[in-house]
Amino acid sequence: MLKKTVGNWVDGDRFFDRHDDLLVLRDAVLDGTNILLSGQRRMGKTSLVRESLRRLMAEDGISTLFVDLEDASGPADAVVKIVSEARRSASLWQRVAGWLGDSLEQIEAEASYEDIRFALRAQIHSGNWKDKGDAVLEAIASKSGGQVVIAIDELSLLINHVLKDDDYQMSRERVEQAREFMAWLRRNCQTHRDRITVIVLGSVGLQPILKQAGLSATMNVFSAYELRPWPPKTASDCLAELAASYGLDLPSEVRRAMCQRLRSCIPHHVQQYFDAVQRQLRLAGRTKASLKDAEDAYHTDMLGTRGRIEMDHYEDRMKLILGPVGYPVALEVLARTARSGIWTCGDRLDYEHELRTFGEGGETTMPLVLEVLEHDGYLARSEGGYRFESGLLEDWQRASLGLAPTPLPESGL
Ligand SMILES: Nc1ncnc2c1ncn2[C@@H]1O[C@H](COP(=O)(O)OP(=O)(O)OP(=O)(O)O)[C@@H](O)[C@H]1O
Ligand SMILES: [Mg+2]
Repeated sequence: MLKKTVGNWVDGDRFFDRHDDLLVLRDAVLDGTNILLSGQRRMGKTSLVRESLRRLMAEDGISTLFVDLEDASGPADAVVKIVSEARRSASLWQRVAGWLGDSLEQIEAEASYEDIRFALRAQIHSGNWKDKGDAVLEAIASKSGGQVVIAIDELSLLINHVLKDDDYQMSRERVEQAREFMAWLRRNCQTHRDRITVIVLGSVGLQPILKQAGLSATMNVFSAYELRPWPPKTASDCLAELAASYGLDLPSEVRRAMCQRLRSCIPHHVQQYFDAVQRQLRLAGRTKASLKDAEDAYHTDMLGTRGRIEMDHYEDRMKLILGPVGYPVALEVLARTARSGIWTCGDRLDYEHELRTFGEGGETTMPLVLEVLEHDGYLARSEGGYRFESGLLEDWQRASLGLAPTPLPESGL
């Protein structure tokens, strides 16, 4: 029975499909290939890696470490996170314990994960993170233990944080700090390639950020793998399974219409849409969904207040990466694309001319803006310009401009 989840990463009985992607990751890990897993927002990157690690641990006896750098403030904090995450695995903690030496007793007595982080912060700082980091990875890669997979999530947020000050300016020192961290990661991947495999999850424009700082080459020990949306058949099967789990009837034509609405079946949007239809049915006191239920749920829920909250979440992340100059430019590009359905070379020239006229610097951010919009799945290059790939993202933008959703193809509702 597939359990519904809207928001947090999923694994186990909440995780649906992704068989091929799981196989690719497993083969890469068993091969010792480091992976850069990229994919648009909410595609299920974290879930795929969490589920992969769960299976690698259970089926192949491989030790795993999942490090989320979302709130890491710098390289020292990243090393602290690696050590404290080792606490969750008995075999890794044993290896790290030798390295922790004298301070271990104090830490073990305290035990909680947060306490460990706090205690480690006093020992690992900006002056020694590289040596400490080398030593801890040396301990983790110990010859007496088995293979280890380290997954690093939200690396782009850490690098962005290191690179830019409060005014989103990149000083030479900041670029140097980011370079040092990326070089440290790269060197350790090479040094321990027989023992440690690293999976980096590239959410929110890792490649554009590295490119902006001239650091793209630091990722060349990683083999790129892109996580794509579900094919409509898989999304429809997921909807059918969710419906069965919750005692609902979603006929195939309703599921097909839901997938047509989304256009790009991003797993999170599929789950959101199921949740919206389920609420619609509960209100109506029915269990069988009609095409009208699916359409009403789309308009009132997916494009209503609850959808707006999800859109804000997308935009918050975009703001974090693009800063006060690039963010409004991105919003304007999205609005103009939503209005006409396409963003052409001519549109770009016109808008750049407008931005230059106001002299606020917006035009210089255009290359990064377009790369982030493309990387994060808002826009895709197509014949004649950029278009929205996801119907939902396009309709969110249209709704915020007071425009009706894009019409469905003839075969739809
Ligand atoms: N394999 C899956 N099976 C079922 N639902 C999934 C799956 N993958 C993702 N989802 C849905 O997508 C949501 C987001 O998943 P996840 O956090 O893994 O995505 P992400 O790509 O890491 O997102 P972000 O871009 O915010 O980092 C989950 O809450 C769930 O609703
Ligand atoms: Mg994620």
